[in-house]
Amino acid sequence: MEFILKHTADKKKPADLFVMGYFEGGAVCKELQTLEPLFYQSIKTALKNGKFKGSFSETLSSYHEKFTQASEIVLIGLGKTGNFKKLCMRKAAGQIAQLAKSKNVSALRILTDSFAGGEVKIQDAVSGLAEVLELNAYAFDKYKKDNAKKKKEFSTELIYTKKQYEAAFKKNIAATQAVTRGVLLARDLINEPGNVLNAPRMVEIVRKMTAQKKISCKVLGEAELKKLKMNGILAVNQGSMTPPALIVTEYGQRYQSKGTVCLVGKGVTFDTGGISLKPGKDMEKMKYDMSGSAAVIGAMSALADLGLPVHVVALTPMVENNVANNPQRPGDIIQMYNGKTVEVINTDAEGRLILADALSYAEKFKPKAIIDLATLTGMCAYTFGDQAIAILGNSKRLIGRVQDAGEAAGERCWELPMWDGYRDQIKGYHSDLLNVGGPYGGTITAAKFLEEFIPEKTDWVHMDIAGTAWCNSPRYDCVKGATGVGVKLLVQFLKAWKK
Ligand code: BES
Ligand code: MN
Ligand code: ZN
Repeated sequence: MEFILKHTADKKKPADLFVMGYFEGGAVCKELQTLEPLFYQSIKTALKNGKFKGSFSETLSSYHEKFTQASEIVLIGLGKTGNFKKLCMRKAAGQIAQLAKSKNVSALRILTDSFAGGEVKIQDAVSGLAEVLELNAYAFDKYKKDNAKKKKEFSTELIYTKKQYEAAFKKNIAATQAVTRGVLLARDLINEPGNVLNAPRMVEIVRKMTAQKKISCKVLGEAELKKLKMNGILAVNQGSMTPPALIVTEYGQRYQSKGTVCLVGKGVTFDTGGISLKPGKDMEKMKYDMSGSAAVIGAMSALADLGLPVHVVALTPMVENNVANNPQRPGDIIQMYNGKTVEVINTDAEGRLILADALSYAEKFKPKAIIDLATLTGMCAYTFGDQAIAILGNSKRLIGRVQDAGEAAGERCWELPMWDGYRDQIKGYHSDLLNVGGPYGGTITAAKFLEEFIPEKTDWVHMDIAGTAWCNSPRYDCVKGATGVGVKLLVQFLKAWKK
C-alpha cells in the first residue's frame, strides 16, 4: 500500500474519505478549526446534543459539499485516553481500513495527530496505522478470474501538524512496511494451495527471495537428507510424490559474536494425516500446516530488510504428509538424526518427526537460543482458540522474552507446563520414544517429544500456532485465511535480542 505523508498546511486534492479520532471527554483537535471548520462545528454540535460521545469504535459520519478534505468525513471514537493502548490503536486502525474498504475509496486521508493519546505516542499511532491498514487490505485473490472480484487498492495519506515529524514518520513507515511485507509473504505462502506449493516450489520461492537480500540459502535435498540420516523428515515424506527439502537460510553472520538464534518452522505443505488419515471435514485447511515455516521465512525477509544486527539461522523442513508412493505405517520404527528411535504410532503426528531432525541439526550452528513455530496440535486450538500461541520450553528467561515480544507485537503467548510426568506418555516399548502420548495434554506431550531432540544445554522455546495461524472470520488485522502469525513476534524478539 502506498502511504503519503503531508503536512496539514500543504495543498492537497480532496480525498474520498477523511478520518480522524476523538477521545471521549477530550478536546477536538484544534487544527480542525482551520482545516475543516464546518466539520469542527458539526462535532461540537453532536457532542453538545449527546449524539456522539467518543466511546471506543463509535462513529460520526458527515457529508457537506463545502468540505475541503473529502466529501465524507468520519470521526472515530477512541474511548477514554486512560484506556488507550497500542492494541486499541491497532483496532481503531482496523476500523478505518474496514470503512475504507466498505466505501470503496481510492484515496484515504487520516489526521494522524488525533490518534495520539494514553499509552499511544504519535509514532505508535503512525506504526499502528501503517501496519494494520496494510494487513487489513490484504487479499489472496490471484486465482479469481473476474477482476471486479479482486480487491481494490487504495492509497493512504497521513497528515500531521508538526513539520519536524516528517523524517521520523518516513523512517517509521519504511520499518513498519519491512515487517508487514514479511507477514504478507508468509500469508501468500500459506494460502497457496497444496497442489501448487509443495517442497520444491517453496525452495524456488525462498531461493528467489533470499537472492534479492543479504540472506544465504542452502537446500538439503533428498540425497543429502538420506546421507545425514534425517529419517524423521524422510519417513513423513515417504507418502508423497514430490521430494522433501530442508531449507537452511542464514542472515547476519558478522553478528555471530552476539549469539546465534536458530529459528525452526514446521513445513508440512499438506497434511492428510497419512495412513492415519484425517477426517474429511475441514481437511482443506491443512494447506496451512506449513505456517511455521512461512513465519520463519517471512521473519528472515523482514530482518534483512530492516538490517537488524543479529545472526539468525532458519531451518525449515518441507514435506507433504500424504498416502501415495510408499507411505509410512503405524508401528514403523525409525531412527532419527540424533540417533534416538521412534515408533510411529500415528502417522498424523508428523510435525514433531520433521521438527525433531531440524532441531537436532541446529546443534551445528551452536545457537544461544532455538525457537520453533509449528501448527503442531489440534489440542492447542481447542485450548486457546485464536487468542493465544501456546508456548513451552526449557528456559524461563527465553520464554519470558518471547512472551514480551508477543505482547508488544500483538501476538500473545501463554505458557503451558513441561512437567516430567508428561514424558511418561511418550516413553517407547520397542523403541526409545512414541510419536504420540495418550489422548490428554496433547500440546504438552508434543512439546515433550521435541524436547528429546534439543541440543544439550541449549535454551529452547516451542510455539504451537495451530489456533492462531488461520483466521476463520475477518478481524481488525486480517481477512479469512492465513494470518502470518509469528512474523511480527519474531522480528520484535530479534530487535531486543541479547545473549
Ligand atoms: N497439523 C496437525 C495439527 C492440527 C490439527 C492443527 C487440527 C489444526 C487442526 C498435526 O499434524 C496433527 O495432525 N496433530 C494431531 C496429533 C495427534 C495424532 C496426536 C492432532 O492434533 O490431532
Ligand atoms: Mn498431522
Ligand atoms: Zn500436521
